[in-house]
Amino acid sequence: MTILRDEIRPNPKATTKRLHVVTWGCQMNVYDSARMGDVLAPHGYVPTAAPGDADLVILNTCHIRDRATEKMFSELGRLRLLKLAREAAGQTMILAVAGCVAQAEGAQILARAPYVDLVFGPQTYHRLPALLERAASGSRVLDTEFPAEEKFDFLPDEAAPQTPGGVIAFLTIQEGCDKFCSFCVVPYTRGAESSRSAAAVLAEARRLIASGARELVLLGQNVNAWHGLGLDGRDWRLDRLLRELAELPGLLRLRYTTSHPRDMNDDLIACHGEIPALMPFLHLPVQSGSDRILAAMNRRHNIALFDRLVEKLRIARPDIALSSDFIVGHPGETDADFAATLALVARTGFAMAYSFKYSPRPGTPAAQRADHVPPDIADARLQELQALLRRQQDAFNADCAGRSLDVLFTGPGRHPGQVAGRSPYLQPVHITGPVSLIGTQARVKISRAFPNSLSAGNWTDLSQPPNQERACA
Ligand code: 5AD
Ligand code: SF4
Repeated sequence: MTILRDEIRPNPKATTKRLHVVTWGCQMNVYDSARMGDVLAPHGYVPTAAPGDADLVILNTCHIRDRATEKMFSELGRLRLLKLAREAAGQTMILAVAGCVAQAEGAQILARAPYVDLVFGPQTYHRLPALLERAASGSRVLDTEFPAEEKFDFLPDEAAPQTPGGVIAFLTIQEGCDKFCSFCVVPYTRGAESSRSAAAVLAEARRLIASGARELVLLGQNVNAWHGLGLDGRDWRLDRLLRELAELPGLLRLRYTTSHPRDMNDDLIACHGEIPALMPFLHLPVQSGSDRILAAMNRRHNIALFDRLVEKLRIARPDIALSSDFIVGHPGETDADFAATLALVARTGFAMAYSFKYSPRPGTPAAQRADHVPPDIADARLQELQALLRRQQDAFNADCAGRSLDVLFTGPGRHPGQVAGRSPYLQPVHITGPVSLIGTQARVKISRAFPNSLSAGNWTDLSQPPNQERACA
């Protein structure tokens, strides 16, 4: 098979090339994929939704759970067929693998998939034009370094197109993790914790708002560990950054995710009571309700701390709703440990939550333990936990029916004549109304609750100005 590699040589004067990015995993991967598009846009790449039409396909992978490697190779197998079809038609396709599987298993990918041209990790995508140039010169390229230079300093400044005019925009402020939970690959794939400066974050926030964003979601693997150079030359913590961002004209809503309980300090909790734009919804992973398992997980917090945080958050912001992450079946987890997790869920009450069966990740300390929980027991525990969380989510949603919620309208709805938006609690809300509502926030009366969304009546209900009173749950 011949690949006409010169055809993909990045060149601002070159004819348009098509880029298709497949994104798996967390919101940080979604953000990274959008930034890859930004990096490549000046080199003539425009997005296409059809991989078969693409001159460059990037598979942005996630390594956090399950059979990440097998899933990736089966997707690569499908993409290979598209690449062969293009070549049969006299065209080319550069196939690239990015993200955390690329970081963890880059060399094996090149060895096992000879049709992959380029492998790069989450810290090197600012080098994409140069990497493509090297691929164009005939070599198969691997770049999974943790470079000394700061990736963000090398990304283009233009308003990030990430879904042009996107009403809700992601903004990565922090990357990496130094916590080393027993089960987690993130410290190995994303590297050490690092924070962007307040000036860089504010500049990107302004650009996103100028291109239509009304809600910003600050992202980081350990976002509340953010501390960076402040505008006054001092080291700022997240609370200070949130207060500064909340002042930006045009911004209606702010969120940050994902937080670690250990870094949830009193100044940050106070923000939830004092910054109206900060949405009353916090994702705070606890993972387990058992102190014994939290210690085995190296979580660096115990249940007393988590309970205290929930209490303080609810005092600061009485309408705050919580979501969390849980792992069942961590090595060593007994029936009593699992019962403690159920008890924590029952007494806390979550608006929604993610729960997972422990999945051994190569190279992590938990994977090396001898006391793994039998899969049938872990499955049964997961089902029981998910049933309880489902009941809580249903009750939370049902409680929203008949109440008034502020909705930020983000796009057209599923049916003609509908627009869709998000409640303060991130529930999708559908309403009959004109597309001119998109980008605005208004208070609507919720008429019906569904398992994963809400619907409201007609847009003429949008009579009251938004405010931040307790509206739900
Ligand atoms: N097995 C199962 N779940 C995991 N998570 C992270 N690593 C693993 C693993 N090895 C879950 C945690 C984390 C979420 C993003 O994924 O709950 O908070
Ligand atoms: Fe992984 Fe723990 Fe870091 Fe979260 S805090 S990214 S679970 S190591």
